[in-house]
Amino acid sequence: MSLHRLLGFRAAVADPAALDSYYAELGLRGDATAGYSGSDGGATVQVDEAPFRRLVALDIGAHAERDIDAAQTRLEAGGATVTRTAESVSVTDPASRVHITVRVAEPEAAPPAGSTQLVTPNSPGATVRTNERAPAVFGAPRPPRRLGHLVIGTPDLATTRDLLVDGIGVKVSDEVDGIIHFLRCSTDHHNIGLVHSPVPILQHYSWECDDIDHVGHTATALYRADPDRHAWGLGRHFAGSNFYWYLRDPSGAFLELYSDLDHIDDDDAWEQHGRTPLALEHIANAWGPNLPTEFVVPSDLDALAAGWARLDS
Ligand SMILES: [Fe+2]
Repeated sequence: MSLHRLLGFRAAVADPAALDSYYAELGLRGDATAGYSGSDGGATVQVDEAPFRRLVALDIGAHAERDIDAAQTRLEAGGATVTRTAESVSVTDPASRVHITVRVAEPEAAPPAGSTQLVTPNSPGATVRTNERAPAVFGAPRPPRRLGHLVIGTPDLATTRDLLVDGIGVKVSDEVDGIIHFLRCSTDHHNIGLVHSPVPILQHYSWECDDIDHVGHTATALYRADPDRHAWGLGRHFAGSNFYWYLRDPSGAFLELYSDLDHIDDDDAWEQHGRTPLALEHIANAWGPNLPTEFVVPSDLDALAAGWARLDS
């Protein structure tokens, strides 16, 4: 795959200081300018100040300059106007208004050895722990490991999807035309998701945790500090298979904590195992609470529409 990793994204929010405090509570490293990252480093979230929240930019890593050349060729063949430097090519999606850049980047560093220590649970007929409590009950909230994906809300799904797939060169893992697309620029099942939105938004962004207990401990600490933060979860998605728990961030976007995501390193094997097409009944989840309405129509839609109208006037 010529593309190999998500490098990060840049969001604009009305109150960067509130988001900075929230990220500090979550245990993220970094700052708004350098970017916030999980405990393993890797992809970052950069934050600007703006009158209303929006996703400004998305950065994707490629192996070599020839991969940038290929992306430029595909984008221009599709009629896009690109900006080219020696090591990058950029284009603005007219639908989501996101500035997308593909740049030459080093592969993502492997997690530190021994940094993941999974514990096998007891199950019927397979008792592995006797006369002691599960280690997970003593767990404490800790920072997520890495930024894994973001989901873009776009008023024109087909335009955004085609620019990313046919132009940028990301791959499709699961999709239902007109509803949702799960795209990857690495071996993660998805690094970029697309959903329809009446106005362009950063719908959610997601941080990988070690396991379901890591998700649970960290999400619980955040919502106990402010119960209004809880948005959706706990559940397991069908697309990607991951456990999820969504919280509201101070900007109005959803922040997801997840674990146990599908990985794909053989395109044919994934298709052969019949994981596509994504069934309609599985779009929200395999199990868990019903999809909240605000995941389809943003609760701050009127303010966002007014913000875009001002920006475009
Ligand atoms: Fe997600």
